[in-house]
Amino acid sequence: MNGRAGAMTAHKDLLTPKEVDTLARFVVDLSEARRGSDDAWKLYKEKGCGACHGSKADGILAELPNGEIVTVGAANLTDSIWRFEPAGYDSARYTILHGVNQPGVSGARSSVCPGITSPTRLENAAFSEEDVEHLALYVHELRGVAVPERTPIGEDGMWGRW
Ligand code: HEC
Repeated sequence: MNGRAGAMTAHKDLLTPKEVDTLARFVVDLSEARRGSDDAWKLYKEKGCGACHGSKADGILAELPNGEIVTVGAANLTDSIWRFEPAGYDSARYTILHGVNQPGVSGARSSVCPGITSPTRLENAAFSEEDVEHLALYVHELRGVAVPERTPIGEDGMWGRW
């Protein structure tokens, strides 16, 4: 209930423009249910993207024997949901270049999932423990399901998929 904020390194000084292009196309391929080229998968692994996004790029690092899923909050790159607007190639390229939640990096994406106890966002909301459980279940069920309509709200559209 306290929110979370994953972080992603800015790669503008770590990748050549061609590598950024290859990886952005790769992310688009995956989001449109294409496999992605072998070269792109190789680059994805070599550049350490998998350390956060997982070896299958689905955001999952491991599944524990008790069914719990280990993640660092990195996006699932294999679904059709775009975390940041305007979606597609340009978004992927921008995120790769500038990163997410990087203090001091100009242009970095900012992604904070406010805790619902946060007074600023939901000051009038009164959620019971049971409500929270229902919401958590609902979000869990939504996972991996494409949401066709987007209504951007924030400046960077970060809540656009809700
Ligand atoms: C240190 C962890 C980390 C590393 C390394 C990392 N990412 Fe990320 N990535 C994240 C997090 C966290 C987010 C934001 C998730 C959120 O807020 O929902 C993200 C978001 C993204 C997005 C935005 C997806 C969307 O739906 O808009 C793309 C594209 C992306 N990463 C690609 C890459 C690529 C390609 C690499 C390798 C060059 C990489 N990432 C390396 C953690 C990481």
